Amino acid sequence: MQFSTDEEFALQLDREDPLREFRDRFELPRGADGKPLIYFCGNSLGLMPKTARGAVDHELDAWAKFAVEAHHGIDRPWYTYHEPLREPLARLVGARPHEVVCMNTLTVNLHLMLASFYRPTKTRFKIVMETPAFPSDVYAIKSQIAHYGFDPKDALLLVAAREGENTIRQEQFEAAIAEHGDSVAVIAVGALNFITGQFFDIQAISAAAREHGITVGVDLAHAIGNVPLAMHDWNVDFAVWCTYKYLNSGPGAVAGAFVHERHATNTKLPRLAGWFGNDPKTRFRLDSDFIPVPSADAWQVSNPPIFSMAPIRASLAIFDDAGGMKPLREKSVKLTAYLEFLLDEIGSERFTVITPREPSQRGCQLSIMAHENPKELLEKLQAAGVRCDFREPNVIRAAPTPLYNTFHEVWRFAQILSQHR
Ligand SMILES: Cc1ncc(COP(=O)(O)O)c(C=O)c1O
Repeated sequence: MQFSTDEEFALQLDREDPLREFRDRFELPRGADGKPLIYFCGNSLGLMPKTARGAVDHELDAWAKFAVEAHHGIDRPWYTYHEPLREPLARLVGARPHEVVCMNTLTVNLHLMLASFYRPTKTRFKIVMETPAFPSDVYAIKSQIAHYGFDPKDALLLVAAREGENTIRQEQFEAAIAEHGDSVAVIAVGALNFITGQFFDIQAISAAAREHGITVGVDLAHAIGNVPLAMHDWNVDFAVWCTYKYLNSGPGAVAGAFVHERHATNTKLPRLAGWFGNDPKTRFRLDSDFIPVPSADAWQVSNPPIFSMAPIRASLAIFDDAGGMKPLREKSVKLTAYLEFLLDEIGSERFTVITPREPSQRGCQLSIMAHENPKELLEKLQAAGVRCDFREPNVIRAAPTPLYNTFHEVWRFAQILSQHR
């Protein structure tokens, strides 16, 4: 598409946007002047759906009116509260419903997955990761390695961008796999890198890993609700995600996990168990023998935290109403390409976009590396009503999301940026 720098062009794109009405479904944070901020922070904490409050109130009312009976005897029974979330989440990650469970938080789920899928031996004990990866993933993985008596210095292999490059080349993962092959137990990759916004080719990584019998685990924190995913078809072994970023489900909202059906249906796998992983048919026998349900639910440890799950219902309904990832991705590709075009127009002396230019290798986020006074630039953006986040030492991450951001906001963001001298 041919873009233009005219303000009228941005307004016209908004008028033509088939998803334009979805913005009105969110609470928009406002500045001191009462006007909505330009909120490009959905990669950190997504906005609150207007229906979230009602969803939480509904459960508070159920507690007040029915107390313990709300576990079973009401319209949305708490006992099975996580179950209706399974299918909408499965649609977003490209999975079969019994491969998906909504539970815990992301890092906890990563530990639970590693407890089953990282079973190091003397000869196969290494984990391959990208770097920089989100620190919580690194801490979890290093602690798992140490837990089994190995030293992360020997067991953790990091794949980094080459000297002078900002992003990792796909072939670097394949080279690491080929070089360390049979000594690697797990490859754990963030599908979409939190700093650079690079979307890795998970299908190709998974195929290369499988040739060497390596288990593939993926962190979808920045990918779910942002880019199209196909966990089942890409043959990933396990994946974990949070729901407070692009899924707009609130701070610390309950996370999710995917377990490929070849493992999900294997009740013999080792795991860290709890009563909600037990088959619901026998759960209330309260026996001392754990009988895992043959699905991803077998990794559930405790009963679902209803109040922090309620907003997820509200949020996932919006994704389904919008028609799922296809229309969202179409708008997102256009929105981000428009931002890239406007940044190109401003010129590259003062900053460099380190996110890949190829749309299939990124989501909505562009990471802008500021060459001069990055903190001052961030402050100017904030003072002008922009909210985007900052990663030390000099990366500003701007994530225009298709559900609630507009082309005119992208235009205004670029205007504000161009005025910074
Ligand atoms: C890529 C990535 N992984 C893991 C986490 C940690 O998530 P949690 O605090 O939900 O465990 C985050 C949080 O922002 C993240 O961005």
